[in-house]
Amino acid sequence: MKKGTTVYLYELAWILPSIAIPVGMLAALTVTAFGAGIHLPSVDRQVNPTKLAETPPFDAPRVAQVAPGKYEVYLTGQIWSFAPAEVRVPAGSTVTFVATSRDVVHGFMIPGANVNTMLLPGQVARVTTRFDTPGEYPMICHEYCGIAHHTMGGKLIVEPRS
Ligand code: CUA
Repeated sequence: MKKGTTVYLYELAWILPSIAIPVGMLAALTVTAFGAGIHLPSVDRQVNPTKLAETPPFDAPRVAQVAPGKYEVYLTGQIWSFAPAEVRVPAGSTVTFVATSRDVVHGFMIPGANVNTMLLPGQVARVTTRFDTPGEYPMICHEYCGIAHHTMGGKLIVEPRS
């Protein structure tokens, strides 16, 4: 093999993957976003964190049934608790969390479910997931938010269908 040919093949071995890898990633993104409907938790809208007491729905944090089998949880994080601290839904429910912070940056995570977002004062996070398996799921703050951060949690109870 001539020297020139070797260099060319060597370059090609770098060039082809550097094209194939981004193209593959873009294809994976397209398939998951449009095909599988997977989205990052995103900012829904903005609110004034000092006026949450008079800003619906955060003036009354709660679980609301919006359609058969569909629930919305209007949730706030504050040092060092979630409101509501306990959420109950029947198994098979699709639950959308609409959540924000009253004070500092908090986290909101439900291990074992597809819920993991940040609660930022002023920003409303929106994340939807489905609960099929009855049981008790912890709701955890996973962003350090001060001296009692480790105590900040709640629970989500998925009740068996009767
Ligand atoms: Cu709230 Cu850590």
